[in-house]
Amino acid sequence: MSDPAAVENPLVKGLERLPVHPTVLVIFGATGDLAKRKLLPALYNLAHEGALPERFHLIGVSRRDKAHEEFAAVADTAIREFSRREPDDKVLAALLAEVKYVAGTFDDATVYAALKAELDAFDVAAGQPLNRAFYLSTAPEFFPVIVEQLGNAGLTEAAGEAEVRVIIEKPFGTTLDEAIDLNQRVLAVLDETQVFRIDHYLGKETVQNMLAFRFANSMFEPLFNRNYIDNVQITAAEDIGIGTRAGYYDNAGALRDLVQNHMLQLLTLLCMEPPVDFSADEVRSEKVKVLHSIRPPHRDEVFRAQYGPGTHAGDDVVGYLQEDGVPAGSHTETFAAMRLHVDNWRWAGVPFYLRTGKSLARKVTEIAVTFKPVPHLAFGEEGSVGVKPNQLILTMQPNEGVSLSLGAKIPGNRMRIRPVNMEFLYGTAFMSQSPEAYERLIMDAMRGDATLFTRNDEVEAQWRICDPVVRRWEDEAEPLVQYPAGSQGPPEASALLLGDDQWRAI
Ligand code: BG6
Repeated sequence: MSDPAAVENPLVKGLERLPVHPTVLVIFGATGDLAKRKLLPALYNLAHEGALPERFHLIGVSRRDKAHEEFAAVADTAIREFSRREPDDKVLAALLAEVKYVAGTFDDATVYAALKAELDAFDVAAGQPLNRAFYLSTAPEFFPVIVEQLGNAGLTEAAGEAEVRVIIEKPFGTTLDEAIDLNQRVLAVLDETQVFRIDHYLGKETVQNMLAFRFANSMFEPLFNRNYIDNVQITAAEDIGIGTRAGYYDNAGALRDLVQNHMLQLLTLLCMEPPVDFSADEVRSEKVKVLHSIRPPHRDEVFRAQYGPGTHAGDDVVGYLQEDGVPAGSHTETFAAMRLHVDNWRWAGVPFYLRTGKSLARKVTEIAVTFKPVPHLAFGEEGSVGVKPNQLILTMQPNEGVSLSLGAKIPGNRMRIRPVNMEFLYGTAFMSQSPEAYERLIMDAMRGDATLFTRNDEVEAQWRICDPVVRRWEDEAEPLVQYPAGSQGPPEASALLLGDDQWRAI
């Protein structure tokens, strides 16, 4: 037998960690919700782990007028409230000691002149040009404005060895045309290698584990194709409603909010061919090929609905139309389901069912891969309890893990079969708390590793699948099917399922 260690493994390329150079991170929208809940706590946890570069500076940019110290106080409060670990006073104080703040509107050139002065001052103090990472955590209409202003101010050009990178939050366009236009405007100023489009699902450990699971184990890959797999179900259910986000959500809906980005990412990771190595472009090229094999679903392959009043954990909850800020008679879907086909050699004929919704019975994100039944069950079925085809369940959240159902003999002197589960649970296997998605993504962007970010052609390919559905739904005037808040969702969604397939319980 050959020594596996002696064989050079091409998959290692891209996995070697790139060093993080001294960096100034500039957050646009620094006093907004995302910055407070996710970005600033992520920075704290990176600092806590000693993962930030030795020289690291933070600048906040936002509309509200504030002194540097006032922004530091806002950041301190946000981190104490939202950090996954109790902050250590010394680490937190060190992180925020030199924080700067620039106030102004994002289309105002003087803001960028002030920002440049702060950035240059950090370079002078360091005696070298520092890397600059601009994080656009603003309303989407400002994405192109900020990139253009950065360009006009000369802030997108790297000095010496230093790199300039721009991280763009979602949504990346609300239609295909908008996404194309945004890509054009961004890429008129920046090179694609400088652009990091966020899809926070890619920062989740469990999502990255799909790559490990598929490509670090030889036992599953031979089965991962149309010959052995009957159907795949991807669920992203949430128990919460839209909360205070009516302004955003009513213009988005479930399809744009979750399917076009997060769910299609899960689908591509599940379906992609093994990349020749784990460099950003090889991985993303394989994902794009999957997206290109999916045609937009027909009218009878999609379904949408809206939550009505219901109960959750014993409490009455309002329906979508009664939520604050939702326009009367809104047609925005809070539930979307579809049947997709990946028309390539590996997956032709296997239905992929996608389902997402707000205000459902519980929060669960999972992929269920159902294998084909055995061709002939030789045991008499009498006394057997639910002999079922094998199922592989990848649970992204909660109870992160992987479970494989197998048929096993029930102990006793008869041959009776029952499904049992083989489980791997993150919590017990690794005994450690997983980092938040944003911790990984901020580090990768600062390192210049774009593997877990969406490339320009990828985001457009995602829109090509969803855009026709969005347009069709905009033209349909009849009221939406309602499902009770806190329920399993609308039973009508079962019409999408072929043969005996059934939605898994949420
Ligand atoms: C966001 C959506 O992208 O993802 C939200 O805008 C949604 O509506 C959230 O609640 C779900 O993310 P997670 O990480 O909680 O599954």
